[in-house]
Amino acid sequence: MIGTNTKISETINSDPKKFESQTDWNTDAIVERRERFYAASQRAFVPYDTPLIFKHGQDQYLWDEKGNQYLDCLSQNLCVSIGYNNPAVTAAVQNQAEQIQHCTTMFFHPVPAHFAEELTAKFPQDEEWVVHFMNSGAEAIDFALLLARSHTGNNDVVSLANSYHGATFGAQSLTGISNFRHNISLLNGIQFAPNPDQYRGIHGDGVQPYLEDLDRTIHYGTSGQIAGMFIEPIQGYGGIIPLPKGYVSGAFERVRAAGGLCIVDEVQSGFGRTGKGYWSFSDHDVVPDIVVLAKGIGNGFPLGAVVAKKHIAEAMANKFYFNTYGANPVSCAAGRAVLQVIDQCNLIDNAKNVGEALLNVLKNLQQKYDIIGDVRGQGLMMAAELVKDRKTKEPAADEMARLFQLTRKYGLVASKSGAHKNVLRICPPLCIQMEDVTFFEEALSGSFAELYQSF
Ligand SMILES: Cc1ncc(COP(=O)(O)O)c(C=O)c1O
Repeated sequence: MIGTNTKISETINSDPKKFESQTDWNTDAIVERRERFYAASQRAFVPYDTPLIFKHGQDQYLWDEKGNQYLDCLSQNLCVSIGYNNPAVTAAVQNQAEQIQHCTTMFFHPVPAHFAEELTAKFPQDEEWVVHFMNSGAEAIDFALLLARSHTGNNDVVSLANSYHGATFGAQSLTGISNFRHNISLLNGIQFAPNPDQYRGIHGDGVQPYLEDLDRTIHYGTSGQIAGMFIEPIQGYGGIIPLPKGYVSGAFERVRAAGGLCIVDEVQSGFGRTGKGYWSFSDHDVVPDIVVLAKGIGNGFPLGAVVAKKHIAEAMANKFYFNTYGANPVSCAAGRAVLQVIDQCNLIDNAKNVGEALLNVLKNLQQKYDIIGDVRGQGLMMAAELVKDRKTKEPAADEMARLFQLTRKYGLVASKSGAHKNVLRICPPLCIQMEDVTFFEEALSGSFAELYQSF
């Protein structure tokens, strides 16, 4: 007879306090412990001059360990899509964790399969879509690269200058910003086309010259037969660069003519963030072959996914490809809750409406402060780019660094990004409210006024 001995649970349940790990919230102790035990690679990425320590979050707000409150305009790098401590996510995760905390895809579990069904329902319904779940964006990018090469039998791939696709070997090889590329030999067969940045691009604004550059990249940099092209419809870490209408569709035509697949990276721009439907590609009248998802998909729980046309994904049917934690049921339960909340709380409309109001604040500031060279964005994905001179567009990186410190002082958590580190990136959780716009305006006005006093 099979046993019924649950001794370990009984032991723990008899005195649960004994098994609780203690957390020391003393500021100096937190800093010292991190300095001592984190590897240099994990210590290095620090945004502010002094550490910012978050203890608690609720919806669009954060509190540090000393009780100071902030309006979050970064969403933990766009992961916390529907807000901190979201009750629907908490309930879904708690329920699932009490059932089974992990179950690999070798065994069958309904939660990831439900989630795959619900996710594919968000894609154009005249295609049949399937999902491969993984744990992060970079893992999903790597898989998309492998899938495109496997399906087409071609090796060459095109990516865009100023793109960011992640830190693993494959994702880093596709990333077009030197700050994020290590000085070692990365993957071969990847060519970069100039990005159609309408503010700072090599041809200025317009679409055709950039498409001609893409023609040249394919013609001179590849065999002429490619596996595909990776595109972020709005470049994220690159400094919120929305690709102009006509570029993505023109690029898709050229990529398909060269035998390649069109791969869209929606890791930052997906899940309604742009306020124009679930996916930013829908604004470009295109249907990609492969879509890469992560970040906002799980509201912070580790989760990534590749959604692909079914006949394309079949290319991997007979090869082993297994992520141990891929399709973890707790993460997938969080993902299901994210979809429910986005739909039932109309967060895509909210992203559009509140996003417009926040963008107006940035535009008004641009009228007042000539250091703001450009303001751009869609929905809750926007940016202000700082320049020393509006004519030369020389990046104002030092001023940006100072402004960034000031935004923290005024109670905003934002991000400093772009290849020249001169872009203030604003990407709040999708649940940010109209009532927050006044605080946003006051905080930024105060920050810019103080920046100007220091000149
Ligand atoms: C557009 C884009 N793609 C891919 C990634 C990689 O995701 P992850 O950090 O989860 O590996 C990122 C991360 O910032 C990203 O912004």
